[in-house]
Amino acid sequence: MAHRPYIVGNWKMNGSRALLAEARAIDRAAQRHRGVQVALAPPFPYLGLLRDEVSAIGVGGQDCHAVAKGAHTGDVSAPMLDDIGADFVIVGHSERRRDHGETDAIVHAKAEAALAANLGVIVCVGETLDQRDAGHAQAVIEAQVDASLPRGHGAAEAAAAGKLSVAYEPIWAIGTGRVAAVDDVVAMHAAIGARLIAMYGDAGGKMRILYGGSVNADNAAALLGAPGVGGALVGGASLTADAFLPIVVAAEPDEG
Ligand code: 13P
Repeated sequence: MAHRPYIVGNWKMNGSRALLAEARAIDRAAQRHRGVQVALAPPFPYLGLLRDEVSAIGVGGQDCHAVAKGAHTGDVSAPMLDDIGADFVIVGHSERRRDHGETDAIVHAKAEAALAANLGVIVCVGETLDQRDAGHAQAVIEAQVDASLPRGHGAAEAAAAGKLSVAYEPIWAIGTGRVAAVDDVVAMHAAIGARLIAMYGDAGGKMRILYGGSVNADNAAALLGAPGVGGALVGGASLTADAFLPIVVAAEPDEG
């Protein structure tokens, strides 16, 4: 059975206690759109608060450490996220790769740790504009997928259960208002899907591949209606209910 479209808001380093009212509004609306799986990933300080205030949407972290505990000042582990009631974690976002020097190997280790903690995982991949202009985008993405996705015990089962997803986020489309062309998204998602089938078999073919990069109310329907697009990872347009909910509506199988 196909998994529901997955619309995930990544608040990045934005938010406040006041912004939790937006999350409550998103949660109320999500109750009317059960055909879509909706989730938010706030900064760590708001995770527990958000968890206590919502029921229809998933709540997740934006990162986790690869080990469960120890001397890693400032880091948060996957079992801690699970303990506080998080449902999933995003790993390998290009801003983590850029700001914290995260390699594919590190992202891979984090994804394995998240699965071991029974969290859902969204693994992000994306090419730079230089790589795209040089005609290397597909090779770059395939290499990231091969090296970043979890392979350990339970990975194929997580894929089958809809707990493992990939987010294709071209770096040049993030926060720029410059959304990728639908044809390019379709081609890249097909390439990613082929790698996932090679890794996980049939379960890989059913995994949701989210698109991320300047998704908004105006472009969501075209992107979400495209073949192979299983949802969206939304940054700026996830910070208010008014901006985010039209994207959820566009993902509804009957309405999108
Ligand atoms: P924007 O939607 O702000 O472009 O951010 C996309 C993103 O990076 C989501 O993880």
